[in-house]
Amino acid sequence: MENSYNSIGVFDSGIGGLTVVHALMKKMPYENITYFGDTARVPYGSKSAEVVREYAFEDTRFLLKQGVKIIVVACNTVSAVAIDELKAKFDIPIIGMIDPGAAEAQRVSGNGRIGVIGTLATIASESYPRALYQKDPHLQVFSKPCPLFVPLAEEGWTEHAVSLMVADEYLAELKKHDIDTLILGCTHYPILRRVIQSSIGASVGLIDSGQAAAVEVERELKARSLLNTSSQQPRYSFYVSDVPQKFKQLGEIFLGQQDLRVTRVHLD
Ligand code: DGL
Repeated sequence: MENSYNSIGVFDSGIGGLTVVHALMKKMPYENITYFGDTARVPYGSKSAEVVREYAFEDTRFLLKQGVKIIVVACNTVSAVAIDELKAKFDIPIIGMIDPGAAEAQRVSGNGRIGVIGTLATIASESYPRALYQKDPHLQVFSKPCPLFVPLAEEGWTEHAVSLMVADEYLAELKKHDIDTLILGCTHYPILRRVIQSSIGASVGLIDSGQAAAVEVERELKARSLLNTSSQQPRYSFYVSDVPQKFKQLGEIFLGQQDLRVTRVHLD
């Protein structure tokens, strides 16, 4: 296994975290990235908080062994149920998705009425509403789990009529609440962005928590003088816990990159 020293470590339950990697690559084009996708145990979103925490510890330990300088918890489910435990347990900067996404939503919302969509576990944790109310107790937050968006995104049905039907069904209730901002609180949802936008209406601003988190990662690296100063072609390493074929195929499409190097690993 190659040395990933000086790289940004990113983990997710599977492939969805590549939307976060994409945001990181755009924001910091010279940073090396080491990614772990737990494809053998995905989905996390329908599992208990206790199990998700255990997995998150193992994923983090794996990245630490690669010598990463910061950890980005791309998975919203892990960010929702395990971020405090991760920060308490590991001595490395750790950035989750919830706070950056909530901060950006609060910043851009004009009427203070914000929608949140995510996995069952993320919505049940109420992490986004908590983070939003902490920023401004006058906000009104409306949440809805949308579990079917994950397989639709993985199937690549980004513009499919079925995806639009599912979106219409899930988002009907949120539409009644006059929200002006909707947080895409799951790694996979930016892949369905067009369908979600067309269903919720053009006037509602969509917040991609991954993009908001990338801004936070850059700020954190800068503050700690950890930004990569070289302007050489960066190194991207991808590790998965199940066979790499599907990850490689979808990853190349998501990231617009050819010859993605994806290695299967076994977590201890
Ligand atoms: N990565 C997960 C998240 O962002 C979605 C997929 C899953 O359920 O594991 O919540």
